[in-house]
Amino acid sequence: MSFIPDVLSFIDGRKAESAQDWALRRDEILELLAREEYGFLPEKKPVRISTLGKNNAHSGGRGIEEKLELRIEADMGPFTVPVTLLYPDTPEKHPLFLYISFSPDIYQHYFPAETVLSRGYAVAMLHYTAITSDDGDMQNGLAGLMDRADDGSGWGKISLWAWTLSRALDALLLRDDIDKANIAVIGHSRLGKTALWCGANDERIRFVCVNDSGCSGAAMERCKNPDSETAEKIYRRFPFWFCENYQKHGFDVDNMPFDQHFALAACCPRFVAVHSASLDDWADPASEMRSCLNASPVWKLYGMKGLDEGVKGSLSYFLREGTHYLALADWTAYMDFIEAHKA
Ligand code: GCU
Repeated sequence: MSFIPDVLSFIDGRKAESAQDWALRRDEILELLAREEYGFLPEKKPVRISTLGKNNAHSGGRGIEEKLELRIEADMGPFTVPVTLLYPDTPEKHPLFLYISFSPDIYQHYFPAETVLSRGYAVAMLHYTAITSDDGDMQNGLAGLMDRADDGSGWGKISLWAWTLSRALDALLLRDDIDKANIAVIGHSRLGKTALWCGANDERIRFVCVNDSGCSGAAMERCKNPDSETAEKIYRRFPFWFCENYQKHGFDVDNMPFDQHFALAACCPRFVAVHSASLDDWADPASEMRSCLNASPVWKLYGMKGLDEGVKGSLSYFLREGTHYLALADWTAYMDFIEAHKA
């Protein structure tokens, strides 16, 4: 069993003992994860959003679908990203899911539109490769228009996707039909890693829904199931998701100054739901749960419950039967979790 870095211990050895201490320790953790794993997020940029079209009869008239265009004033010129906004055709303010999606189409197997609408939620969907391609082309889409540090700590693609979700939120929070206190972010697999990193950084997001995110997502990188993905394996196939500094850790995981429970903890004192699928050995459910247990002490500083005190904790873990997927059962459990902890 290798040494597990303590989420509460500052780099200088002091221990966070209060919520005030945690705010500082959280900054240290975000800096560490940015510099050594995902790469630093770009600075905030001005955005504008416009409506291109509206369908008032989504899901048999239950919902309204707006086609939006998010314009980001990137370092080297403007860039636009399509956003699909779906919300119930009812007068109250809607809690919002920021959903980073594999598909450009809102009609897709990972998204049960009618169920989500019937529970009163709005969903803002961004298609991840409309932001930048899922490959090593650092000139594609938004990536080609943003400055990037060349010292090994420049943003990887996960950081750029996560950052764009936050820019979409900048614009969406200006609408008066969104319940600003109840914003969730959700993503599956590589986009679960993205949702986690976005939620860890963006304190406007109250609920962080991390689906089957596995390696470099919710799963601990130490002591993994031998069939699962490791930092070394992921960096060999997907180096562009990360910053270059991550490579050295992949070959020396036992000595990494962090592990993935740091990313979960960085969401505290907000709310995190980690989901795994029982047959998803590659993502490694047991390591995803261990990570929740290791992050839990942080919530105690706020008098909140971590995982060890039951699923109604502020950090919750849910194991769905089945394979790697973002299922109806996952969405339902995320919405139950949100309803238990709504502002
Ligand atoms: C690959 C990769 C995983 C990732 C998954 C996905 O399996 O190794 O890290 O989560 O793709 O995004 O579907």
